[in-house]
Amino acid sequence: METNNIVDMKNIHKSFGGVKALRGIDFHIGPNEVIGLLGDNGAGKSTLIKIISGVHSFDEGEMYIKGKKISPKRHTVRNAHKMGIETVFQEKALAEKQQLWRNIFLGRQMTNKLGFIKVREEIKETNKIMRELMKFRGIGAGADSYVRTLSGGERQGVAISRAMYFDSDLVILDEPTVGLSLQEVKKVLDFILAVKERGKSCVYISHSIADVYPVSDRFVAIDRGEMVCEYRREDISLEELNEKLIELTKAKVL
Ligand SMILES: Nc1ncnc2c1ncn2[C@@H]1O[C@H](COP(=O)(O)OP(=O)(O)OP(=O)(O)O)[C@@H](O)[C@H]1O
Ligand SMILES: [Mg+2]
Repeated sequence: METNNIVDMKNIHKSFGGVKALRGIDFHIGPNEVIGLLGDNGAGKSTLIKIISGVHSFDEGEMYIKGKKISPKRHTVRNAHKMGIETVFQEKALAEKQQLWRNIFLGRQMTNKLGFIKVREEIKETNKIMRELMKFRGIGAGADSYVRTLSGGERQGVAISRAMYFDSDLVILDEPTVGLSLQEVKKVLDFILAVKERGKSCVYISHSIADVYPVSDRFVAIDRGEMVCEYRREDISLEELNEKLIELTKAKVL
């Protein structure tokens, strides 16, 4: 398909058993665009981004990544990585039982000609990433720390740094700021702005509209598996957007 978009989705449907999580979603992610993906608990936000990331397949509809038609059954997390898509998932962004350096290179090992993992280089790179991207102050955590010993903020930092390190074309962040301190939230928002500055795209899911608003070019809200509104930032104020979302929630209660 002829397109400049990173992702194009048409009439996407997805059910889990009897639960219709997505009902005919039309969605696209433009080049160098930051999208704030909004909606209530259970709206279908994570399901949508997991389809893009290759975690879930879709039942119906069409999806294109950089214009290339995606077969739902063949699209995997590895495939999404190869196509420049990096996702920080809401739950379990990292493998708990593994060391930091293994997490950074999970699924994308540096290998030598014989196919062996270059452990020393991966550890060296991880230390560099921790210093330069995560700005860890070096207390406690090192490249060989186990993920389960890290704080929530540190874990998000690792997942986000990995996205930065691989310089992805599209970074998807699913609730990356839950449980973070104000300072850590600011780091995430700065990271999104850095993605934008580098000419890349981002999808940012959060319940905190005040965080989403200043960094997004466009807002997309979904409700019960359907897209219910879409605005460019220049067309709506934060107050109006808030009102709009409250209205949608009320409509749901009635
Ligand atoms: N793996 C799964 N198996 C069964 N049902 C699922 C699965 N994943 C999601 N669902 C259901 O699909 C619907 C949409 O869920 P989803 O996780 O996409 O919502 P969400 O918008 O991300 O919500 P939240 O803001 O709470 O994270 C919900 O009803 C959920 O229970
Ligand atoms: Mg979710």
